[in-house]
Amino acid sequence: MTSSPGSSAEHRAELLALAGTAAELARSVGGVIRSLREAGVDVADTKTSANDVVTAADREAERLLTEGLRIARPDDGILGEEGASVEGSTGITWVVDPIDGTVNYLYGLPAYAVSVAATVLDDSPATAGAGNTADGRRAVAGAVYLPVTDELFTAWEGGGAELNGVPLAGPAEAPLGGALVGTGFGYTVERRTEQAEVVRQVIPRVRDIRRIGSAATDLCLLAAGRLDAYYERGLQPWDYAAGVLIAREAGAVVLGRDDASLPGDELLIAGTPVLARELQAAVAEAYAGLGGS
Ligand code: IPD
Ligand code: CA
Repeated sequence: MTSSPGSSAEHRAELLALAGTAAELARSVGGVIRSLREAGVDVADTKTSANDVVTAADREAERLLTEGLRIARPDDGILGEEGASVEGSTGITWVVDPIDGTVNYLYGLPAYAVSVAATVLDDSPATAGAGNTADGRRAVAGAVYLPVTDELFTAWEGGGAELNGVPLAGPAEAPLGGALVGTGFGYTVERRTEQAEVVRQVIPRVRDIRRIGSAATDLCLLAAGRLDAYYERGLQPWDYAAGVLIAREAGAVVLGRDDASLPGDELLIAGTPVLARELQAAVAEAYAGLGGS
């Protein structure tokens, strides 16, 4: 990558090209997984718990994404949910989730997505709030494609976010008590028991909760103003890399548990600047009540 974000026309052209690659791959692989779904789907393996499943389509989609990236960007690194791991030499690492929302995919529910993000290393505390996340990276271009609704969300750093080519304005300001809040649950019993307790404390304080089943989709729905806010604990970089960029470029802010922590595995909270802060306080209070988690 050349120079710093937004510093030159060349840099912007590079980001636009990365977003184009992300969009093209997400859309083409999304088409493949949709066709595979129509042909039937079975569990191929399990991961963190018996309910954390992998299908043959997850693996095939990651293989196609890796192959496409190796052709389009042979010197970049790759990190994928199903194990793809390629060292690069350009400073760009593609963080990909071949199917985010695998359980929805398994059950024939529509909220599943292919998520593709070009990221750069950025673990500087000086850029907290500027898109860097707890995994030490920052997405600079990305795409999330929902094959069932044929919705392609794209963004590049400094270039805004779009849905099928139309600019997104992000969520409207809403008070916490009137906010529709997305969240999700991990796959282990310990994690989801704790999350159930937190949601028990948060739900009386908001309009309602949505558990859509795909974190990448949640962040894009927020960018499109179909959710007011979102929070989740236990996300992995492939779940949020592209979605965080899309939400931020649509005007949302993405926070961690507090000002000292970057958004990521511990907690990721997104919304308008005011609502995200209110939700951060409500969620942090609920977690604090659990006693040190
Ligand atoms: C999951 C989804 C879900 C979230 C989980 C993720 P997967 O990803 O994004 O919404 O609550 O934390 O693991 O397993 O469908 O790729
Ligand atoms: Ca995922």
